[in-house]
Amino acid sequence: MATNRPKVLLTRELPEVAIEKLEEKVDLEIFPHDRVMTPEELKEKVSDKDGLLCLLTDTISPELMDAAPRLKVVSNYAVGYNNIDVTAATERKIIVTNTPDVLTETTADMTFGLMLMTARKVLEAGDLLRSGKWKGWSPMQFMGADIHGSTLGIIGMGRIGKALTQRARGFNMNVVYWNRTRLTVREEKKLGLRYVKFNEVLLQSDFLSLNVAYNQDTHHLIDEAALQKMKQSAFLINTSRGGIIDEEALLDALESDKIAGAGLDVFENEPNINPRFLSLKNTVILPHIASASVATREKMAMVAVDNLLAVFAGKKPKYQVV
Ligand code: GLV
Ligand code: GLV
Repeated sequence: MATNRPKVLLTRELPEVAIEKLEEKVDLEIFPHDRVMTPEELKEKVSDKDGLLCLLTDTISPELMDAAPRLKVVSNYAVGYNNIDVTAATERKIIVTNTPDVLTETTADMTFGLMLMTARKVLEAGDLLRSGKWKGWSPMQFMGADIHGSTLGIIGMGRIGKALTQRARGFNMNVVYWNRTRLTVREEKKLGLRYVKFNEVLLQSDFLSLNVAYNQDTHHLIDEAALQKMKQSAFLINTSRGGIIDEEALLDALESDKIAGAGLDVFENEPNINPRFLSLKNTVILPHIASASVATREKMAMVAVDNLLAVFAGKKPKYQVV
């Protein structure tokens, strides 16, 4: 049956509530396999679509947009949107949306989890127990670093950085931060934050958390020179995007104990992890799950759907990137 409902492609199954809501309003095609679409598949499937609901694992290039002449909106199921060529979208009058806010607290929780896991050697200790080789309580076993009383340095003071700051207060930490634009003094006071220069954050942090968006300006922001400045006792935590760190430089630093450890949820070439990470005892690696709670993923799906439907209703989406 021909309809004049917008045609929309969803590149992967999402929580059911979101799909039901979409199907009320649009002709929905869902890529049926539980894997990332190949560029060819995406190009073919999007060619007659008015809307695209995609994931951070889908690359939305100018070529793809050119293959989809009817495309009005790309709704990304993620807060980060470095997978989308936003400039090319703007040139083609394609609206791009994302899903901030709803994942802030869940991501901040996991960032703290990574701090604890790395500093207190949680995985390594748990593995010993599971291996059946634990000989009993021992005074010197798995001694880690304290979170309380230490200094948390936050690079990027957006929503997630602020949510981390709140948690840090509960843990009695000092917080210093660097951001491209400084917060107002009033806001800093309210949050209990101290603004310092980028290099100073590196020098002062016992835990350094990266919470900036990934783009040309933040590519390899943490490189060899930055790692050199960090304390040998410091831990690097990344729940943002892998490309913010020069991984080769980080691996060198971790392998030679130039820093104490790292807690990483994201990598440069996901899902291909540099194998050198796998044998590092001082590093906790997770498969990009910082926002993965049932409640948050449902909310993200609803936000992504609402953003998309707003465009077809002629309204401004709540979270429009461009
Ligand atoms: C997850 O990495 C996101 O950007 O939402
Ligand atoms: C993401 O929501 C951020 O602004 O940190």
